[in-house]
Amino acid sequence: MMNGNNENSRIAIVGAGLIGRAWAVVFARSGFDVCLYDMSAQALKDCEQAVLESLEDLNGYGLLEESPEAIVRRISTTTSLLEAVNGAIFVQENVRETLETKRQIFSELDQLVAPGVPIASSTSWIPSSRFTEDLLHRDRCLVGHPINPPHVVPLVEVCPAPWTSREAVECAQRIYRAAGQSPVVLRQEIEGFLVNRVQGAVLNEMMSLHEQGYASVEDLDAVMRDGLGMRWAFMGPFETIDLNAPGGLLDYADRFGPTYQRVARESIPFDWNAEALGLMEAERRDRLPLSRITERSGWRDRCLMQLAAQKRKFVADGAD
Ligand SMILES: NC(=O)c1ccc[n+]([C@@H]2O[C@H](COP(=O)([O-])OP(=O)(O)OC[C@H]3O[C@@H](n4cnc5c(N)ncnc54)[C@H](O)[C@@H]3O)[C@@H](O)[C@H]2O)c1
Repeated sequence: MMNGNNENSRIAIVGAGLIGRAWAVVFARSGFDVCLYDMSAQALKDCEQAVLESLEDLNGYGLLEESPEAIVRRISTTTSLLEAVNGAIFVQENVRETLETKRQIFSELDQLVAPGVPIASSTSWIPSSRFTEDLLHRDRCLVGHPINPPHVVPLVEVCPAPWTSREAVECAQRIYRAAGQSPVVLRQEIEGFLVNRVQGAVLNEMMSLHEQGYASVEDLDAVMRDGLGMRWAFMGPFETIDLNAPGGLLDYADRFGPTYQRVARESIPFDWNAEALGLMEAERRDRLPLSRITERSGWRDRCLMQLAAQKRKFVADGAD
């Protein structure tokens, strides 16, 4: 969706690594002016080529409304944090994932960013109350956790701290929607937010089943890729069970609830021990040598873009 108006629409992106550069694509393709900051000039240089390549890929799958060249013109880069945030209406932070780094950058940002302008962190795991508590303007800080790569995967987890203002949450949701993303809001803070907790639950069961010798890594991956993931690519587990019994969710719970409960009680938490992980790694390396990881990641991104294009069609075809 194009922002398409003349009011100030500048977004500051802080940290130009994998996620920062993808956010630059997200905002710029939707009509926002973007200023990307990194303390490393080399990171900014690497980023320019990566951004153009992402835009060309998106264009190849019909996922852009303008040419990559027109979009890239809205993106500037700087090694001055002050310059990046000057005049910004929203700040998206994407520096390294350590509590200390987040504390340090948020303390700098709090002093430089105009009061009332929301500052969102891309942190994957850390609730923002752990790094914003002592800030003067802590009520405008929150988490806006994307899924990699955000220029293809639309979900953003918006997670306010107990002191985050309603205005900051609403502004973040508005801006993410204007950028074509799909925000969900957590009602209270929790480590790992929603996505990584759900991913963790699935990984726990998969790894535990593998360790106990029930199936190979490849077959367990197929369970998701060729089975559950087919539905989960366009509807969630709640809607899935709602449609899987003629009387809806409660009917499903009546039929299968006791079995699920019994299975959950039998489930063994996986302790991420080196021996079991080594066996999983060996199976993966047999299928994909480490030297081919980058090439395969490119394949994954192309698959995601085709899926994104298909999902747009589902919506256009009138699916609810
Ligand atoms: N990689 C993922 O899959 C993923 C997904 C969702 C969210 N995230 C989150 O996004 C954030 C960034 O992750 P990433 O994978 O892009 O990391 P990255 O290592 O690729 O990039 C981090 C960038 O921040 C810069 N940087 C570090 N400290 C800085 C500082 N103090 N000031 C300015 N720049 C600084 C580095 O130069 C680097 O360019 C993390 O919080 C991470 O948890 C990552």
